[in-house]
Amino acid sequence: MHCPALPDGFDFTDPDLLHHRVPLPEFAELRRTEPVRWIPQPHGIAGFADTGYWAVTRHADVKHVSTHPELFSSFLNTAVIRFNEHISRDAIDVQRLILLNMDPPEHTRVRQIVQRGFTPRSIRALEDRLRARAEAIVGAARTRTEPFDFVTEVACELPLQAIAELIGVPQEDRTKIFDWSNKMIAYDDPEYAITEEIGARSAAEIISYAMNMAAERKRCPARDIVTTLVAAEDEGNLSSDEFGFFVLMLAVAGNETTRNAITHGMHAFLTHPEQWDLFKRERPATTAEEIVRWATPVNSFQRTATQDTELGGTLIRKGDRVGLFYASANHDPDVFTDPESFDITRDPNPHLGFGGGGPHYCLGKSLAVLEIDLIFHAIADAMPGLRLVDAPRRLRSAWINGIKQLQVTTG
Ligand code: HEM
Repeated sequence: MHCPALPDGFDFTDPDLLHHRVPLPEFAELRRTEPVRWIPQPHGIAGFADTGYWAVTRHADVKHVSTHPELFSSFLNTAVIRFNEHISRDAIDVQRLILLNMDPPEHTRVRQIVQRGFTPRSIRALEDRLRARAEAIVGAARTRTEPFDFVTEVACELPLQAIAELIGVPQEDRTKIFDWSNKMIAYDDPEYAITEEIGARSAAEIISYAMNMAAERKRCPARDIVTTLVAAEDEGNLSSDEFGFFVLMLAVAGNETTRNAITHGMHAFLTHPEQWDLFKRERPATTAEEIVRWATPVNSFQRTATQDTELGGTLIRKGDRVGLFYASANHDPDVFTDPESFDITRDPNPHLGFGGGGPHYCLGKSLAVLEIDLIFHAIADAMPGLRLVDAPRRLRSAWINGIKQLQVTTG
């Protein structure tokens, strides 16, 4: 059935859309009437069957696609529109080196290695240092007497510090890593004046920095995670260039996502004061998961069908792309009671903000949850009276549900 409520030309990956709002009414309409809907796109890249994509909006269908990598390939698993508009053949080959884009068995091999860096023990080992960082970040912000931007003053730094701690980037190199990471993201938004070329150059800088780090640890092993990941390639560890691309992935996957979860979380608290009071009083352990459901920083990723298959009663042809709309799944009333309410005690909370399960499920989830917990505990302790000064300014992006500025005040 064709859903008449969606105007012709409507595209869920149009950056101008997320610039203004998450299309929750349109998602709700599709979930009810046409949960797997073909969205045509006028542009295409030669040789790819990508004149559009299937928008997958129900929780159950997003999970189904995510957990069946044999039916839905992850190659070019990222924002649908970016590849249509910008990407060259060389750039496509490079994408093959990135974990998010790999399929089994290659993905299984690399994921088994890199997840050694994300064991519960290695994340717990970071907790005290990250708590001290969170308290220092909030401590500096609380001295501000004028209104300030929560994104730059609070939300930005902890995610980058966490990645730097995890892979052991020395303190003196962090500023340049932070600078490169920030330049790589958000080039859909003209306000940042980050051209594709600057983004690509920054990515190359990060890869080369990480490759040097890996080569150094091979020459001179240390008791750290880089050494564990790259120590002996022949024993099933990473090559230096695989390590380089992995760090690049972390700088994208772990940076803007967590920054936006924190910023959306703060905005949600400031616009739901009863939830902020509840958090300050009781600090429910369920808070971070609800913030990620509510924020859904990654609006969508995509897959490509490897064979003809059926999804939610619709035939998907081999080569068709499907867009997994996590923001829609996270508001599916078949799964969430009262999905439009921000409820930090929600439990269970089977949201898909970290992906729909399956092999690519977010590797950094425990780290992200830890960071969100630490920063809100620090804010509740040191700036309990924070107030909103202005409406948030949203990021222009094809796939990130982002806030680029949030003016707040402690006064
Ligand atoms: C994958 C979301 C934080 C590292 C993913 C995926 C999503 C996601 C939606 C894709 C899942 C799929 O395709 O099925 C988020 C959100 C975060 C967050 C919302 C913060 C609130 C982090 C952090 C790190 C990280 C802090 C690491 C420092 C990764 C990696 C992958 C991934 C490496 C790829 C896994 C693979 O392909 O096997 N994340 N993420 N993420 N994330 Fe996260």
